[in-house]
Amino acid sequence: MHFLTSDGKLYARRSFYVASKEGTHGRNRVRRRVSRMNITFLLNGETVELADVDPTATLLDWLREDRDLTGTKEGCNEGDCGACTVMVTDERGHKALNSCILFLPQLHGKAVRTVEGASGPNGEAHPVQQAMVDLHGSQCGFCTPGFVMSMVASHANGATDHDTQLAGNLCRCTGYAPIIRAAAAVEEQPVPVWVKDKPVATQASSPMLPGSSDELAKVYAEHPNATLVAGATDVGLWVTKQLRDLDPVIFLNRCEDLKEITVTNHEVRFGAMVDMNRMGETLADLHPSYSEMIRRYASVQVRHAATVGGNIANGSPIGDNPPALIALGATLHLRKGDERRSMPLDEFFIDYGKQDRAPGEFVEAVSFPRQEDRLKAYKLSKRFDQDISAVCGCFNIAVSNGTVADARIAFGGMSGIPKRATNVEAGLIGKPWSLETVRAALPAFADDFTPMSDMRASASYRLETAKAMLERYFLDDHGEITNVLEVKA
Ligand SMILES: Cc1cc2nc3c(=O)[nH]c(=O)nc-3n(C[C@H](O)[C@H](O)[C@H](O)COP(=O)(O)OP(=O)(O)OC[C@H]3O[C@@H](n4cnc5c(N)ncnc54)[C@H](O)[C@@H]3O)c2cc1C
Ligand code: FES
Ligand code: FES
Repeated sequence: MHFLTSDGKLYARRSFYVASKEGTHGRNRVRRRVSRMNITFLLNGETVELADVDPTATLLDWLREDRDLTGTKEGCNEGDCGACTVMVTDERGHKALNSCILFLPQLHGKAVRTVEGASGPNGEAHPVQQAMVDLHGSQCGFCTPGFVMSMVASHANGATDHDTQLAGNLCRCTGYAPIIRAAAAVEEQPVPVWVKDKPVATQASSPMLPGSSDELAKVYAEHPNATLVAGATDVGLWVTKQLRDLDPVIFLNRCEDLKEITVTNHEVRFGAMVDMNRMGETLADLHPSYSEMIRRYASVQVRHAATVGGNIANGSPIGDNPPALIALGATLHLRKGDERRSMPLDEFFIDYGKQDRAPGEFVEAVSFPRQEDRLKAYKLSKRFDQDISAVCGCFNIAVSNGTVADARIAFGGMSGIPKRATNVEAGLIGKPWSLETVRAALPAFADDFTPMSDMRASASYRLETAKAMLERYFLDDHGEITNVLEVKA
């Protein structure tokens, strides 16, 4: 690998990505590459140009191994702990991201700030660093760089919901109260000028880093067996945990047209590359329960990266978007070359690990009709924040003159695919909207689902929970408080 810094020096060194035997996280791989590429980004204010980059080299590995920037820590190497948090700035603003599951080509044209760049050029501490010292926010210090960078990003964005902003950063020894106090203490302080990064202007770098969905369609048709990388919150783990050697790889992060959100009087449409934070913001007014569920989808860092297209295309039976979108009657839009087709989202999921998607075909967008908000999305997981659902139940039941006029109920975690509860729906439609009707429909869950037992929940717990969720929907609809955050003693 070669890299050129803004002072014009060309650095060349044997890259550990190519043939090193050291390391414990999959670095002892020898990789073949058809999709190596050249990229440019800002690192702590300096332009970095990398030539011939291994497309699945992570930012964390590169910072620590190639740049000796060891302030950024490696904890889990799978997006769970936040020790590796950096701030990335693009046209849409500042984002905290986990560098352990961020591939270098995802940075092309962006600005990266690590904890080494949090303090000023003359060594001045960033206000959040000073507050962490003053308010005793650090003990062993392993988590501290990650916390600091999450706080630098949320401070730059003026965010004050510190519990949410820091839910993706784990600390084993300090306890969270002093850290939250430090974040709150600097709310009113100005953003230091040195962290006000701007993205850099870049040229097209490689056909594998297409700049639009048209370019993507072309290159994917030429390489139909390539792995598409959207936010890499799944694919990243294939590399860091499963040690898979992916080649070729096509990155979608520069396809701005796939990031469009369209809300008309008739329809809501999300491009495949819309990330979870933007999706949650858009849904806050339209379907607040869905938006609230997204707040519990992983962490801020993961939500900045994870896309709706990736969450659908991966076909996971426990992805949180598919059941909510199916309950809203969503349509999936696919494209292969110049050919497009659309289908009801539930028909996309054929069987466990099998979706209705041809080689070379990609998810372009998902849309659903504008409608009165009757949706409730219930995410059940062992931990409140940042946990994969054991069961995700989504209910959209229309009532007219006291009678159930329509019902769309879909679940994640109850089957090998995200799936509708068609027998339960049939048991409700046309009946009076009453607790008796709801209770009479509950046995039909056993006709709709044969859930499995795993580390998240047993089969019988899943089934009982699904039934309880329908009762909860009824109570919610009648003004009862059922949300643990709203229940008061
Ligand atoms: C710490 C952590 C917590 C998580 N928590 C949750 C959670 O609470 N709920 C949840 O649902 N998920 C969760 N996930 C899983 C993951 O974040 C989601 O599945 C995410 O939406 C995947 O999107 P992505 O953009 O990162 O996809 P990627 O990892 O880039 O891709 C995933 C798959 O989709 C394919 N793909 C991506 N985009 C397209 C496209 N446009 N067309 C065709 N194929 C495409 C890729 O080739 C790959 O097979 C979590 C992950 C992590 C690491
Ligand atoms: S090392 Fe844990 S999130 Fe990256
Ligand atoms: S200070 Fe030790 S893990 Fe947070």
